[in-house]
Amino acid sequence: MPIKNRFAELQSEITGWRRHLHMHPELLFDVEKTAAYVVDRLKEMGIDDITTGIGKTGVVATIKGNTDNSGRVIGLRADMDALPIEEATGLEYASTVPGKMHACGHDGHTAILLGAAKYLSETRNFDGTVVLIFQPAEEGGAGGLEMCKDGLMDRWGIQEVYGLHNMPGMPVGEFYIRPGALLASSDEFEITVTGRGGHAAAPHEAVDTTLVASQIVVSLQSIVARNVNPIKRVVLTVGTFETDSVASNVIAHTARLKGTVRTLDPEYRVLAEERVRRVAEDTASAFGAQAEMVWTPGYPATVNWEDQTAFAAEAARAVAGKVNDATDPIMPSEDFAYMLEERPGAYIFVGNGDTAMCHHPAYVFDDEMIPSACSWFAELVEQRLPTS
Ligand code: NI
Repeated sequence: MPIKNRFAELQSEITGWRRHLHMHPELLFDVEKTAAYVVDRLKEMGIDDITTGIGKTGVVATIKGNTDNSGRVIGLRADMDALPIEEATGLEYASTVPGKMHACGHDGHTAILLGAAKYLSETRNFDGTVVLIFQPAEEGGAGGLEMCKDGLMDRWGIQEVYGLHNMPGMPVGEFYIRPGALLASSDEFEITVTGRGGHAAAPHEAVDTTLVASQIVVSLQSIVARNVNPIKRVVLTVGTFETDSVASNVIAHTARLKGTVRTLDPEYRVLAEERVRRVAEDTASAFGAQAEMVWTPGYPATVNWEDQTAFAAEAARAVAGKVNDATDPIMPSEDFAYMLEERPGAYIFVGNGDTAMCHHPAYVFDDEMIPSACSWFAELVEQRLPTS
């Protein structure tokens, strides 16, 4: 079965929802207007089993199938939050909020799940229950974890959970998935190096913190190059390097480095933390300086379950005629990871065509993917919860 005809009919309405959300982006847990918009649309569809305030500002709603002989429950998840980015697309429906933009397409994901909800509530051609999950704070706030902590999985009896993300650079409406780790874990570190500031012309009387911190940056790259099995995937990036000197003739007293470690393998999170601390402290010590490292764990890797990946791929094949079910993992992170730690499930990429990458001010969500993405959710439900 290809794209469901009903979604071709609904595309302009769903696109309208998406563009409304795009014009009114909200950040992290402050998605009250977005959540209220979701609730209004669900009510219009006659969906009245709606719970708000899960994971602070998340929304959970249920749709019952025509029958419920199986007692089976499937969760479908979308994220609702935007990013602190100034939009530079020039589109007529661009963000109306300075400094905020839906630059990751979560407006699209929310509209897609609403579209799937409309179809599923009209047809109810399944046996069991669908739980719609609209989460806040995917972009660094762990809103998915907050919803899980509020009992999302047990309270609604969710047995399997699925989500999707648009992917720039892949053809519109094509699907990409793989079993196992699809996205990386993301941890952060901050290193403060303290030397002894001084006159630039008298380095022998100072401990040059800039030099020490530079050595640390270089040595940190040896962790991935020399401590990690070369067939494994780990990336370490130092993103910021600041010192307290603001003049060319002053040797800095302190320097601060901030960076991130991404990996698909949990054991390398442990190794990286230990090695980053050791390299920072011991390198500083060798130069007569001190370094202090603070490690902040972030999202775990997003690990697709094998059986559910096969189900997700089968639904994608039914919609698009083909699916890449052995796509390469990528090293951004995604807090759907927490839901996959609690229940079997899978996460799939849907091609977003030629546009700037997610999190870029010129990123554009392609509304042409809406029928495919909505069809995937609907097809997945009908395949996983068949009527007898
Ligand atoms: Ni995203």
